[in-house]
Amino acid sequence: MTPKAIHLIAAARPNFMKIAPLYHVLQSQAWCRPRVVHTGQHYDANMSDAFFRDLGLPAPAHHLEVGSGSHAEQTGRTMIAYEAVCQADRPDAIVVVGDVNATAACAMVGAKLWIPVVHLEAGLRSRDRRMPEEINRLVTDAIADVLWTPSRDADANLLAEGVAADKIDCIGNIMLDSFEMLRSKITATDMRAALRLAGPYAIVTLHRPSNVDEQSKLQELVAAIEELSRELTVVFTVHPRTRKRLAEFGLLERITSAAGIRATEPLGYIEFMNLVMHAAIAITDSGGVQEETTYLGIPCATLRENTERPITVSEGTNRLLKPAQLAAAAAEALSGRWPKGRRPELWDGHAARRAEQSLRRRLG
Ligand code: UD1
Ligand code: UDP
Repeated sequence: MTPKAIHLIAAARPNFMKIAPLYHVLQSQAWCRPRVVHTGQHYDANMSDAFFRDLGLPAPAHHLEVGSGSHAEQTGRTMIAYEAVCQADRPDAIVVVGDVNATAACAMVGAKLWIPVVHLEAGLRSRDRRMPEEINRLVTDAIADVLWTPSRDADANLLAEGVAADKIDCIGNIMLDSFEMLRSKITATDMRAALRLAGPYAIVTLHRPSNVDEQSKLQELVAAIEELSRELTVVFTVHPRTRKRLAEFGLLERITSAAGIRATEPLGYIEFMNLVMHAAIAITDSGGVQEETTYLGIPCATLRENTERPITVSEGTNRLLKPAQLAAAAAEALSGRWPKGRRPELWDGHAARRAEQSLRRRLG
């Protein structure tokens, strides 16, 4: 029997941690042949190549070199380039992950060419349509043939939207498979020594357009981080979108010159997770960081009005906060009063194995 060709689509930083465990499990199976497709949305070495190296991913079989641009530009270029790939080298199934522009773009290409589309991390909803990711989630889930959810609340969201129950497999949270795959390297790294962090610290990541694209909002966040840095060292790994906006609004210097703030370039996965593991608190608007902190029992302050990952609040260590609440939250975390939470069901490091079983059963 010819092995089934499976395309795994990756575009941006969080996608690599989601496809890597699946790639490795599928690669070990005789029935299929996984192929990585990189759309090229993230292209800096520290937003892309570093993750291929850390996660043991092979060079992409196809690189679409889409680059930066508006939503329509990225989505359109991805569709044009990926349609040509599928016509020349038709896969038996396409796995799209998360909620980035490539997720919706490649799902649309697959659906129109009648290639089965599987959505990994289906069913998440912030119910905030001002978020570009929410549009990508809705479009992708409406047309995918198979929906792999990370938790039961996501199943409920899909069922409420009329998705047939037999399309849904709850496989758990695959990002944490990457953490377990690299746990020994993450624990063997010593970023506290590398950054000469003497005491407790907060790890900060921000990149949502709603937080960083508007000057007054970003100014408010910078002021709150400065205030916090007078109580606690702040390690701020600055996303390229955020760096660009900080520079544009004349705020970059305030971050790079504050005594209590260590501003860094985006870090590799192993370095970053080592910092998260030992942080007093994570301050973020990242989807992945909300999940990783819940898994590790680390306090997480999410600077957003809503989250598509409510289970990290109801079961885990996540809280939705405003910038003005940061200092009090950090004090609570430092005093050990922040509830530890628990790991949601199926967040166990074995999601990729369940995904492979689902795919094998469904592709026959
Ligand atoms: C994208 C995703 C977002 C995800 C995030 C993960 C969409 C709609 N957004 O947002 O869901 O949470 O990735 O990090 O798909 N840039 C660089 N180098 C790079 C990549 C980007 O300098 O390698 C700069 C460019 O100036 C670019 C800006 O960052 O215009 C924003 O990049 P883009 O990929 O459009 O969106 P992200 O904010 O990264
Ligand atoms: N991450 C990293 N280095 C950093 C910041 C983040 O390796 O400097 C990892 C981390 O595992 C996080 C993931 O990148 O969960 C998600 O990235 P991002 O916040 O960019 O995207 P989102 O999850 O919000 O879509």
